[in-house]
Amino acid sequence: MINYYVEKEYESLSKRTAQLLIDEINKKPAGLFCFAGGDTPVKTLELLAAAEQAGKVDLSQASFIQLDEWVNIDPNNHGSCRNYLQRTLFDSIRTSEENIHFFNPNSIDLAEECWLANAFIEKKGGLSLALLGIGVNGHLGFNEPGTPFDVNTHVVTLSESTKKVGEKYFEKTSFFERGITLGLAQILAAEMLIVIASGSTKTNAVQTVLKGSPREDCPASGMWLREESTLIIDRSLAETL
Ligand code: PGA
Repeated sequence: MINYYVEKEYESLSKRTAQLLIDEINKKPAGLFCFAGGDTPVKTLELLAAAEQAGKVDLSQASFIQLDEWVNIDPNNHGSCRNYLQRTLFDSIRTSEENIHFFNPNSIDLAEECWLANAFIEKKGGLSLALLGIGVNGHLGFNEPGTPFDVNTHVVTLSESTKKVGEKYFEKTSFFERGITLGLAQILAAEMLIVIASGSTKTNAVQTVLKGSPREDCPASGMWLREESTLIIDRSLAETL
């Protein structure tokens, strides 16, 4: 089942999503949380940081794991997923480095990077909550169309769509061919899964999800493999469906 919400606008989408995060984190303060990068979750994560500063949620016991990263990127690059998470959330909340698992996308042994992420998730007993955006092509993280639903962390050759859309995150022209990402098995096994989408570029992806069954050509449709997931979109997107 998918709990499906259409919010009036991006602001209210972000408010609803942030409240779901706050409620869940308050239930499981020592859980493992995974928040996507990208434009869609920005406001949600800012609201979460503000709630922490206002004492409405305690993030000091929580653990976090990065969802995905461009391979061979400098972590200080504004377009890196790590830099995004630092700027949007981690720099404003009380947490410590040892509670956060980041990828090293410059490792000479990316198989080991996958192993380390898998081991971190396993040690924490799985993800408590995953918050994801949805790709224009229906991807979740860097799990591109065609990815089997049962894979763990892996290195990906990025699709043309992801490379093209990804240019918006970078201040200077950057070329990335590969990514590293948590796998669909790990994302879909999260105790709570929230997917958010805003704006008309996501029409095809959300239409495919709403067809009501999991299909490998649209990783986000894997939400149907779960007993319960949450999909929140805004009206500007809903009107295009
Ligand atoms: P966006 O990216 O939030 O920047 O639209 C989502 C995604 O591609 O997964």
